[in-house]
Amino acid sequence: MNEKNIESILKEQRSFLPAASFTKAARIKPDDLETLYKEAEADHKGFWAERARRGIQWDKPFSTVLDDSNAPNYAWFTDGELNVSKNCLDVHLDARGDKTAIIFEGEPGDRRTLSYAELTAEVCKFANALTAQGITAGDRVIIYMPMVPEAVIAMQACARIGAVHSVVFGGFSANALRDRIVDAGAKMLITADGGNRGGQIVELKQAADTALTNGCDTIETVIVLRRTAQDVAMHEGRDIWWHDAVDGQPDTCEPVPVNAEHPLFLLYTSGSTGKPKGVQHSSAGYLLHARLTSKWVFDLQDDDIFWCTADVGWVTGHTYVAYGPLAAGATIVMYEGAPVFPDGGRFWKICQELKVTVFYTAPTAIRALMKLGDELPLSYDLSSIRLLGSVGEPINPEAWIWYHEVIGKERCPIVDTWWQTETGGIMLTPLPGVTATKPGSCTRPLPGIVADIVDEEGNTVDSPDAGGYLVIRKPWPAMLRTIWGDNDRYIETYWEKFQNRFYVAGDSAHCDADGFFWIMGRIDDVVNVSGHRLGTMEVESALVAHKRVVEAAVVSRPHEIKGESIFAYVVFRGDRPVGDDEEALEKELRDWVGEQLGAIAKPDGIRFADNLPKTRSGKIMRRLLRAIARGEEITQDTSTLENEAILDQLRGKS
Ligand code: WTA
Repeated sequence: MNEKNIESILKEQRSFLPAASFTKAARIKPDDLETLYKEAEADHKGFWAERARRGIQWDKPFSTVLDDSNAPNYAWFTDGELNVSKNCLDVHLDARGDKTAIIFEGEPGDRRTLSYAELTAEVCKFANALTAQGITAGDRVIIYMPMVPEAVIAMQACARIGAVHSVVFGGFSANALRDRIVDAGAKMLITADGGNRGGQIVELKQAADTALTNGCDTIETVIVLRRTAQDVAMHEGRDIWWHDAVDGQPDTCEPVPVNAEHPLFLLYTSGSTGKPKGVQHSSAGYLLHARLTSKWVFDLQDDDIFWCTADVGWVTGHTYVAYGPLAAGATIVMYEGAPVFPDGGRFWKICQELKVTVFYTAPTAIRALMKLGDELPLSYDLSSIRLLGSVGEPINPEAWIWYHEVIGKERCPIVDTWWQTETGGIMLTPLPGVTATKPGSCTRPLPGIVADIVDEEGNTVDSPDAGGYLVIRKPWPAMLRTIWGDNDRYIETYWEKFQNRFYVAGDSAHCDADGFFWIMGRIDDVVNVSGHRLGTMEVESALVAHKRVVEAAVVSRPHEIKGESIFAYVVFRGDRPVGDDEEALEKELRDWVGEQLGAIAKPDGIRFADNLPKTRSGKIMRRLLRAIARGEEITQDTSTLENEAILDQLRGKS
């Protein structure tokens, strides 16, 4: 291996080899990877079975590896039994009970560490509290919390007793929370008085109370963690403080063995149409992938301090905060607040002080911090960092190079990891000790993952650089099992396009001559704002729910920091607002969407129109609207439009 980075003349072809010293110490070396690829290729099922036997402590070993009799509802390790919490906690107690599991830093600056033994005791106490409140295996529990250790404790406690958690991001509004509670039919809600974010208090309990006044009849109990200590209303007979719930509970709790396919969690994610989908994950397959990729991709070694900055409200916070690194016995960092509080050096200060060695974040954060200049990161000692990661959206080469030079000091490999809520864990990624990375490419599928790019007919696109649908040809253990309560939608969304032959990710991609994948973006109407998927349909429904809005169309527009931003076209009841009126209404609508869905869904721009461009069959021409929002030339034929004249108005010309 070459110590120096290879840089060719053509920008797009820059390639960066890991340093020989990195490769030498890495868990996966070039030869190992080749062996793994060969093994997986020769026997796909056998490859995963072997990993599952070695990587999971089973209470009852499995004999069936893959059940494809109900394809595309695949099932893995179907007759095995295990407990996920036991595999994340108890398995470490003998060898490293005193090892730090979590280092937590609150936004106000408070710190707390929990060893594996302490974390296990807290999880057990809370699991006992859940049982005392009548929660049993299979019950759904909603977790709506700030990024504090109790969020992970709650998730692990659910797993310990076989309850199915569904974490709702703390930035979502009362309405979004209510929809998820109702869809999941949840029996319990776990929340906090509030959380700290950007120097403000996020009023979680207040939002929860609003949600619960509105048709969440299945909720019997609300457990409230005291975090910010401001006054909150407690409802007699329904609400109980976390500290009261665990008071007197024993700090041991026998993990309940569940079937390999028992749902570990539901996580709601946006699709192109309709309400959010409750993506359902399994226990064994999910755990296997989470643990394995934590070790392979982040190269977690015993003395590593791993910081994945994602909130537990997103899948990244599930797989690479709450489950994977713990199953791998690592030390993780959790930070409660905003990256720019009190200033843009907060992330780097945490890296310096907690001696973070592996740092995993999103391109939107990298771009935002890059914009603040090099001075801040340069004023901190980042020499503990040895590996960097990126996830959530394509990372543009400029941001990649900045990450590489200013944060990684040209020393640290960067793993650009492609995956989805639905895939459960990382699918396409460099391996840090092996892959010669190219800025902007997530490189190759992991061993055991059979990715491909196909055309409209489902045939492999084999000319380099031609784009197509990103698909996964063979089932893999961590794949989603279904959409909660709507299996038809599962099949329709991910399989039907190519007659159930392979999983359709919904992204377009192309492959270069080296077999490296480049993700080009979503093919459906999903906006990726700051790495968070939002269905344009959801934002449209929220807009139309406003009493003065008749019709709305939402499209995405590139944004320097957020990757994409939301742009909305709105048709008003009555006269089209102009001047000051327009500004005031724009603000009103933005706030309205914020209330309906949460601040991340607020449109960046709104344009009022008398009408929207439609085909003669009444379909809104979204492609046109996208072009207008982006200020692009309209090249398509517009003469088929029912109301061609509207285009000038939409461009702001009349
Ligand atoms: C996008 C987040 C390019 C992609 C783990 C995918 C990426 C969606 C990458 C899933 C990447 C994620 N390069 N695009 N490395 N990672 N995406 O479900 O469009 O929140 O389909 O899961 O994010 O978003 P989700």
